[in-house]
Amino acid sequence: MKHTEPALQIDIRGATSAKLAKAHRLNPSDLQGIEPRIRAVLKRMAAERTQGKHRYRELPYRLVECRTIQALAAEYRPQVENLVVLGIGGSALGNIALQTALNSPFYNVQPRERRGGPRLFVIDNVDATYVGDLLDLLDDELPNTLFNVISKSGETAETSSQFLIMRELLRKRLGPLGARRNILVTTDASHGSMRAIVDREGYRSLIVPDGVGGRFSVLSPVGLFSAAMCGIDIEQLLAGAAAMDRRLDAPRLAANPAATIAAVKYLYTQRGKPLHVMMPYSQQLRDMADWYRQLWAESLGKRYDEQGRREVFAGATPIKALGATDQHSQVQLYREGPNDKLIVFLEVEEPARDVTIPHAFADVEAMRYLGGATVHGLLNAEKKATEQALQVSQRPTMTIRFPRISAHAVGQFIYLYEVATTIMGYLLGIDPYDQPAVELGKKITFHLMGRRGYETRPTE
Ligand code: PA5
Repeated sequence: MKHTEPALQIDIRGATSAKLAKAHRLNPSDLQGIEPRIRAVLKRMAAERTQGKHRYRELPYRLVECRTIQALAAEYRPQVENLVVLGIGGSALGNIALQTALNSPFYNVQPRERRGGPRLFVIDNVDATYVGDLLDLLDDELPNTLFNVISKSGETAETSSQFLIMRELLRKRLGPLGARRNILVTTDASHGSMRAIVDREGYRSLIVPDGVGGRFSVLSPVGLFSAAMCGIDIEQLLAGAAAMDRRLDAPRLAANPAATIAAVKYLYTQRGKPLHVMMPYSQQLRDMADWYRQLWAESLGKRYDEQGRREVFAGATPIKALGATDQHSQVQLYREGPNDKLIVFLEVEEPARDVTIPHAFADVEAMRYLGGATVHGLLNAEKKATEQALQVSQRPTMTIRFPRISAHAVGQFIYLYEVATTIMGYLLGIDPYDQPAVELGKKITFHLMGRRGYETRPTE
C-alpha cells in the first residue's frame, strides 16, 4: 500500500488569541467579513485557470517533463563532479531553497559516495571575488563540471556575464566541443538571446514553460534539474504540490490554507502591520524564507492597480528571520519596536534525526536542566517561548507546521505560498505577475555598459 504523506497545517491561533488586545487580534467577524471577497477571488482564479492563466499551477502535473529531467540527470550524474547553476532571482533562489531543505547542510563537503550527486554551486551574483574564487576551486575539475545556465528571458546581464566567462574558460581548456558538452541551458522555448545562442552553438537545453514567471518557476526545469542531480525526489516534490492543489480547491476560507494565509496577511496589512516576517525554526527551511522574500516582494509591491490606471503603492514587506538564531538578533525589535509586523513561524514536528544532550554538571543548574533533552526539543521549546513572548507584547503570529521535512512537504509548501501570493495580489487589486519596476534598473545597466540600442539613458 502506498504510504500517505502528511499534510502541512496552518495554525492561526497566534493571531486570533483572546490574549491579544482588539487592535492586534483577528476576530471571527474579521475573517467572516473577508470571506465573500476570498470566495470571489478563488472563483475568478478558477475561471482564469481554465482559460490558461496562472500557468505555474499546472507544473505539478507535467510528469512527462519530470521523467525527462530524471533521465537527463541520470545520464549526467555519473560523470559530473560539480554542478554550477548560473542564474539570479527566480532562476536561482528556488534551487538554493530546495538544496538547503532536502540535502545535508554539509552536502558539498561530504564524500561523493555519501552525496550520490555532484557538488552544487549556485552563483547568483556578479562579484569578482565570488566568481574568481569559484573558478580557482574548479580549475582542476573543469572536465567534470557542468554549468546549468538558467535565464527565462535570456537577457539578464548578471547571468549573461557569468555564461560568457564560463564558456570562454571551457573553450580554452576543453575546446568548443568540450564547452558544448559542459553547458546546459534552461531558457524560454523560442524567445530571448540565450535561446538564439543555444541554437547557434548547439547546447543541450531545457525549457522554462510558457507563462510561468521566474519567481513561480521552481517546480519547472528551472528548479527540478539541479534538484534531481543532487538526488532530490522531484516526483515527490510535484506530488506534494499536487496534493496541496487539491486542498486549495476548497471555497471556504477556513478549509483553504492559501486563502487563510492571504486573508490573515491582507487583514493585518490593512491594519498597520505590513511587515511580514517568515521565521523558520529549522536550519533546513532557512532558504525557503529567502525564496518567499522574492515571491512576496516582487509579486506584490506595485505602484499601479491591476488595470494600470490608479496609483496604489501596494505591497507588504517580506522579512526573513531564523529561529533560534535570530532570537539573539531580531526578537528584541519584534517585541519592543513598532508593532507593525506579523510573524509567520515554520515549525517541524518530527525531525529527520535528533541529538540527545548529555547529562553533566549536576551541580551547575545552567547545564543540568539541559541534560537528557534533545536538540529538536530545545528548538521547538524556543519557538513556543518566542511565540508566547511575542503574544505578551501584543504581537500577532501564525504557524505553518511541517509534520516532517520531505520532498512532498516542501512541494506542498512551495505551491501553497505561490497560490497565497496570487490571492494576496488579487485582494490588493494588483497584477502579481509583472515586475515593471525592475526593468528600469536593468535598462540603465545596459546603457552604462554600452549595450546597443540603449545609447540614451533610459528614464522609464
Ligand atoms: O521573478 C522574476 O521574474 C525575476 O526575479 C527573474 O527570475 C530574474 O530577474 C531573472 O530573470 P531571468 O530568468 O530572465 O534571467
